[in-house]
Amino acid sequence: MARVVVTRRPPGSALEAIERVADVWLWGEDRPIPAETLHEAVAGAAGLYCMLTDTVDDGLLDAAPELRVVSTMAVGVDNIDVATCTARGIPVGHTPDVLTETTADTAFALLLTAARRLGEGRDYVRDGHWRRWEPDLLLGTDVHSSTLGIIGLGRVGRAVAGRAAGFGMRVVYNSRTRDEAAEAELGATYRELPDLLAESDHVVVATPLTAETARLIDAEALDRMKATATLVNISRGGTVDTDALVAALRSGTIAAAGLDVTDPEPIGADHPLVGLDNCFIIPHLGSSSERTRAAMADLAADNLVAGLLGRPLPACANPSVYG
Ligand code: NAP
Ligand code: GLV
Ligand code: GLV
Repeated sequence: MARVVVTRRPPGSALEAIERVADVWLWGEDRPIPAETLHEAVAGAAGLYCMLTDTVDDGLLDAAPELRVVSTMAVGVDNIDVATCTARGIPVGHTPDVLTETTADTAFALLLTAARRLGEGRDYVRDGHWRRWEPDLLLGTDVHSSTLGIIGLGRVGRAVAGRAAGFGMRVVYNSRTRDEAAEAELGATYRELPDLLAESDHVVVATPLTAETARLIDAEALDRMKATATLVNISRGGTVDTDALVAALRSGTIAAAGLDVTDPEPIGADHPLVGLDNCFIIPHLGSSSERTRAAMADLAADNLVAGLLGRPLPACANPSVYG
């Protein structure tokens, strides 16, 4: 049977599905596999089932000359040198769609939590400060009836826009490609990025991390935003300039941030961003419902097995590998 490296125990029954067709080498510890260990493990492997914490680059592929498929249990592939995989004829599987709605739920939760200062409210109660009702306690910014700016109107961005309709929000968006079908369906209006930043009451970043989107939200972008605005990052930490965000949240350039992802990630408890009351951070939980993580694990297993059998992957991040 083909040899397969699995870099973390996946939730649900994905591992059993893989074991039916392959000899599995599993990194069984509760932490990401060290890069050197992974390099040693992939020698002779036909398949790699990895996590977003693993780097798949030229060096790793050189160590894995037999590799026929890379399958990541995530939709984002910024940890994988996809162009190099394509050049080597290796299909890359990922997990779009199955996590979209759960991730959009998380984005909206972050938006509501940051804009309405719910994290500070929880701390207030926990710290024993709640002695009476106050007319001006922890006043935030309304989410309903406001203008939402979505950067990256892809699967997750569109699902966020769908939720915004229920809150009576006006949606403007910026994306690499204008999507007129989505505009008609969601009532979203296209804006150049500087205009979106200036006009939006709240901004959600939902692009992939690429060379173009790295630090897209920098000091200049933050300066364009409203002083009452909330920034939500559901994409990858690298799309936001962390130092610029710390400065903007400290000085009141923007009101609040809700972050699922950070740069660095993980971010230490002693990092200045973590200490800010107007920054609400969760540890990359975008897709973290029981059902969605199991669906991601299963789709990643389906991708892996298809790749081992030489069949087209159900969800392939580099379809040009077949053309
Ligand atoms: P998607 O459907 O590919 O959507 C990404 C959107 O961003 C596309 O519309 C894309 O435009 C647009 N885009 C790309 N480059 C851009 C740029 N330079 N400026 C503006 N827009 C740009 O992917 P998705 O499924 O929605 O996921 C998006 C990303 O979110 C993933 O890559 C991942 O990093 C992140 N994510 C995070 C979590 C989490 O747990 N926090 C969960 C899911 C996803 P085109 O249509 O032209 O490609
Ligand atoms: C999560 O961040 C993913 O890309 O699936
Ligand atoms: C608030 O609880 C109110 O009754 O206005």
